[in-house]
Amino acid sequence: MSQDAAFLTDFHHAATIGATDNDGVDRQAATDLDGDVRRWFAGWFQDRGRRVLVDEIGNMFGLFEWREGAPFVLVGSHLDTQPLGGRFDGSYGVIAGMHVAAQIDEAITAGDQEAPRYNLAVVNWFNEEGARFAPSVMGSSVFAGLFELEQMLDVQDLEGVSVRKALADIGFLGSDDGPEAVGYAEIHIEQGRILEREGIDLGVVDRSWYTQKLDIEVLGEQSHTGATAMADRRDALVGASEIVLMVRQVTQDFPEEALVSSVGQLVVEPNSPIVVARRVHLVADLRSGDPEIVQQARQTLLDKIEALAARDNLVINVKDFDVRPIRHFPTAGVELAESVVEGLGLTSRRVQTMAGHDSVALNTMVPSAMLFIPSVDGVSHCEREFSTDEDMVKGLAALKGLVQEMLSG
Ligand code: GLV
Ligand code: MN
Ligand code: MN
Ligand code: MN
Repeated sequence: MSQDAAFLTDFHHAATIGATDNDGVDRQAATDLDGDVRRWFAGWFQDRGRRVLVDEIGNMFGLFEWREGAPFVLVGSHLDTQPLGGRFDGSYGVIAGMHVAAQIDEAITAGDQEAPRYNLAVVNWFNEEGARFAPSVMGSSVFAGLFELEQMLDVQDLEGVSVRKALADIGFLGSDDGPEAVGYAEIHIEQGRILEREGIDLGVVDRSWYTQKLDIEVLGEQSHTGATAMADRRDALVGASEIVLMVRQVTQDFPEEALVSSVGQLVVEPNSPIVVARRVHLVADLRSGDPEIVQQARQTLLDKIEALAARDNLVINVKDFDVRPIRHFPTAGVELAESVVEGLGLTSRRVQTMAGHDSVALNTMVPSAMLFIPSVDGVSHCEREFSTDEDMVKGLAALKGLVQEMLSG
């Protein structure tokens, strides 16, 4: 089997773990299916006689150690998905990393290449998606020292299960120290339309967007949907519904696409058809290339929410949550990635990522570089997410070139 075919076989195999009816994958962090894909990942390294470390937040590191005691270049992404998510978001980067490592290892073993200056670790970061356990980008942010380990282990899902318990239940609450890192490389699907629209092979990420979430709790009064007079109702769901629309409408205060925002999650209590809702919890996600725009939008929302609470006799608590500044990737890494892509006869352009990624967290710790491949129709976080085998294989070659350069230091 050719090296590209071996990569595609592993990629398509991993997509069977948690496969949904419509070609997607549902493999949320620290679920049994996440446990299954993690065991597959670990087995892949063990079959090659390689060690796998699992740290205290469940990050997994498959080690290719060619030089005793040397620090590691890290390459990877995440194997967890959104509910009814796609096959590509995260998995592509992990499996591409595995095959880059295997290809380099084969060349070293065959004597075609000398052992590089650094060792290589392929990483599966825990809970990038933040679907079951918020915030997102959890494992890599703990590794980079941006989030507190104990605080993250205490985070609970909607059923009250903690990260600590969920990881222990699937056997991946580890105790290893992660490897000493000198750099990080990641490849991912774009999840947007720029590369497809412009017919470009690869995106080189030069900076992230500013993102912030608002954690909103709307408190009304539980009562009977039939027997309570309309004038007497303090309906938390009516208040929450207005907030959902406000979060959408606030984007219209700015140029098109300057601000993107949504409420993606609503938890209604007690959630009975015959009960006026007592409490609704919702999370608004605001993102922009300009932090000032997010701050203006946030203030507009706070003012409108205050007026809504007074008008409808509701109590509405709003907390800032998960604020992430714009982070710039080092120019040297951007230029290195561009030259590798050019050397392969492929095209690239610089992009600012609107999605969160592990590389954005790692970049605060070690020089990091990130590549994107095109996403068909720009869709992601859904079953229809798609990138072609051809684009995945081009990305694999680019990632390999980039990692080779980083390994030689
Ligand atoms: C998660 O996938 C994010 O983009 O924040
Ligand atoms: Mn991802
Ligand atoms: Mn994602
Ligand atoms: Mn993401």
